[in-house]
Amino acid sequence: MNETIEVSLAGGRSYPILLGDGLLGTPDLLDPFTGTQALIVTNAAVARLYLDGTRRSLVGVDQVDVVEIGDGETFKTLNTYATVLDALVENRHNRTTTIIALGGGVAGDVAGFAAATYHRGVGLVQIPTTLLALVDSSVGGKTAVNHPAGKNLIGAFHQPRAVIADVDVLATLPDREFRAGLAEVIKYGVIADAAFFGWLESHVEDLLDRDPRCLVHAIRRSCEIKAAVVADDEREQGRRAILNFGHTFGHAIEAVTGYQRFLHGEAVALGMNMAMDLSVRLGRSSDRDSQRVRTLIERSGLAGQAPTVDEEALLDAMGMDKKVMDGRLRFIVCDGIGGVSVTGDVPEKTLRQAIAHGR
Ligand code: NAD
Ligand code: GLY
Repeated sequence: MNETIEVSLAGGRSYPILLGDGLLGTPDLLDPFTGTQALIVTNAAVARLYLDGTRRSLVGVDQVDVVEIGDGETFKTLNTYATVLDALVENRHNRTTTIIALGGGVAGDVAGFAAATYHRGVGLVQIPTTLLALVDSSVGGKTAVNHPAGKNLIGAFHQPRAVIADVDVLATLPDREFRAGLAEVIKYGVIADAAFFGWLESHVEDLLDRDPRCLVHAIRRSCEIKAAVVADDEREQGRRAILNFGHTFGHAIEAVTGYQRFLHGEAVALGMNMAMDLSVRLGRSSDRDSQRVRTLIERSGLAGQAPTVDEEALLDAMGMDKKVMDGRLRFIVCDGIGGVSVTGDVPEKTLRQAIAHGR
């Protein structure tokens, strides 16, 4: 059941997402996307599970080095990025090398930023191993590390040459991480595809049981939606911002809780509830739509973690969000499930109400 989804970009930067099962370990899998050198960026937990398979897919590459970075968001830093650069320099990687990101969004974002900057840009292959990375972070070319003052403040756009989306990796993913990834899947239904949202309502239990056919469908549809949005607006000059539905709130929730309490997807789920509440208050969505989103989030096991964070702190954190333009907060609001738009026209009082009641 292997298939290819194309991310169509100008300037020869189009690339395939190879989606299916049993991909990792196939001997000639990575050869078309690599040269004679490669550096695999991963962490110890993922390496234990998937490094051998990745190596088996690199038979045509003369020099394969590995750098293990720390596990978790707290390691998405300039220091970690520097260790990746050190590994490249110490092992004499040249400008034709390929960096292979093997892991979740943290490994992907750090490896991607190293690929964007080493020798002013080298090849990158993404091998996502979390659901969040499969449906979101490995596709689209955003790479970054965090700064103490804010998430993803230092980064670059750098598209991969390929994304290897092997659903088999989800067999080992802890439940909590899996559920967090489902938040982004739900997001795609809300922003772009009412029928897909309905399908998710019918199949959420199958997904939680990790039914392979349902997983492939959910990942395929998520990647298709993301690929279309990125093809339309690669560098987020406009429409790509819709991918941040729920994220303005979600990023603020992550920031005020020190990136410790919530996984990214959990914060996004809470943020989507607030964004739906805001959409209803602005007359853009119905109560029923808001309730449907809330219910699906609950059924995905993403509810019941409402942050007891201070409203002022949350508003403050939003002030640092990169989606602030010309001093005005922009919000992605839902115009009924399956469509969203961007608005800068949100009265502060309404925003406060959405934060208070949307939890
Ligand atoms: P993560 O990379 O920290 O991975 C989550 C945990 O799962 C880690 O402990 C990891 O070791 C473990 N793990 C990974 N794969 C596993 C597997 N198959 N089996 C068992 N354990 C496994 O977290 P994440 O949720 O994948 O990514 C979050 C990051 O992604 C955030 O930093 C976020 O900002 C970023 N992100 C980036 C983009 C983008 O467009 N670049 C989009 C969304 C999110
Ligand atoms: N995750 C948002 C984006 O890729 O634009």
